[in-house]
Amino acid sequence: DKGNHRHFMEKEIYEQPEVVSHTLSHYIDFAEGRVKLDSSQIDFANLDRLAMSACGTAYYAGLIGKYWFERFARLPVEIDVASEFRYREIPLSGKMAALFISQSGETADTLASLRYCRDNGLTIGAVVNVRESTIARESNAVFPTLAGPEIGVASTKAFTCQLSVLAALAMIAGRARGTLSSEDEAAMVQALVELPRLSNEVFHAVQPQIEMLSRELSRFKDVLYLGRGTSFPLALEGALKLKEISYIHAEGYAAGELKHGPIALIDENMPVIVIAPHDRHFEKTVSNMQEVAARGGQIILITDEKGAAATTLETMATIVLPVVDEIVAPILYALPVQLIAYHTAVFMGTDVDQPRNLAKSVTVE
Ligand code: M6R
Repeated sequence: DKGNHRHFMEKEIYEQPEVVSHTLSHYIDFAEGRVKLDSSQIDFANLDRLAMSACGTAYYAGLIGKYWFERFARLPVEIDVASEFRYREIPLSGKMAALFISQSGETADTLASLRYCRDNGLTIGAVVNVRESTIARESNAVFPTLAGPEIGVASTKAFTCQLSVLAALAMIAGRARGTLSSEDEAAMVQALVELPRLSNEVFHAVQPQIEMLSRELSRFKDVLYLGRGTSFPLALEGALKLKEISYIHAEGYAAGELKHGPIALIDENMPVIVIAPHDRHFEKTVSNMQEVAARGGQIILITDEKGAAATTLETMATIVLPVVDEIVAPILYALPVQLIAYHTAVFMGTDVDQPRNLAKSVTVE
């Protein structure tokens, strides 16, 4: 049932404040202001590496998770798309655990990667939305995303719930490994507590602007997404979302890679969506934006109040979000990124919930 919404995708986008909060409460004791250590059956303290694998949007969630595990838990992460991971013959050791991410829990390549790790004796964790799935069944530890059924082929609420679980697990690992101070943990928990309310505010603030902007975007054949840090995987996710439902060609790049190739494409016909919260990468990303502007590229900047105040560059649109802690930024910034793809596709009249050639669950290689 789509309720008042035109598409399941729209309904699922707007469900995010609720399902993210539901998911977080499984891993975080909001009253105590701490993560629930016993919600993880992985012995993070005694690992020297974590292997991760997934496909599509779930893979991008994993890439963001890698930044968090490495930064907050000082735990090195080996991550690859499952179709590569399963055949790479990655050397695995007993001091590793493996984490697989999948909405459906049935993705063939992800399952094969899981079995490869299991056969090599690793403890297996799974971040899954479907509790009764094969991937959940074959794992030692199941970390549920409590997103509820996701019907739209384009993954939205599953993605932000995966990020929520990965954020909590990175904090749990940080605590177990003694690399996350209790002050930092408390500040991150506080930021996560406020996330659902902020998400609702963001919807109200940006929806009309994005709907208008999407009309303009629908005229283009190619779109480039740029970001640094955790905004880089989000740029990849933005490009995937746009291409899969609007059929506009889109690419995501690490902003620092711009001058290693993609800058050759920049002209007035290739808008550039820059995801740049005012974080420690901001200044660098602004230089990349200047390089784009100098070549006649039109910029859509997704930033926060500080970032908007700090740049004078002319943009096609500047989407302004509240200033948030870095642990919640990718979850909050996912919302405008999803809305851009959604409204562009709606405006173009594509089948948003069932894009051509795609299946919700990819159970064959
Ligand atoms: O069910 P899974 O999370 O394992 O699915 C993985 C991908 O097939 C999926 O995320 C796909 O990329 C989505 N259609 C993206 O919106």
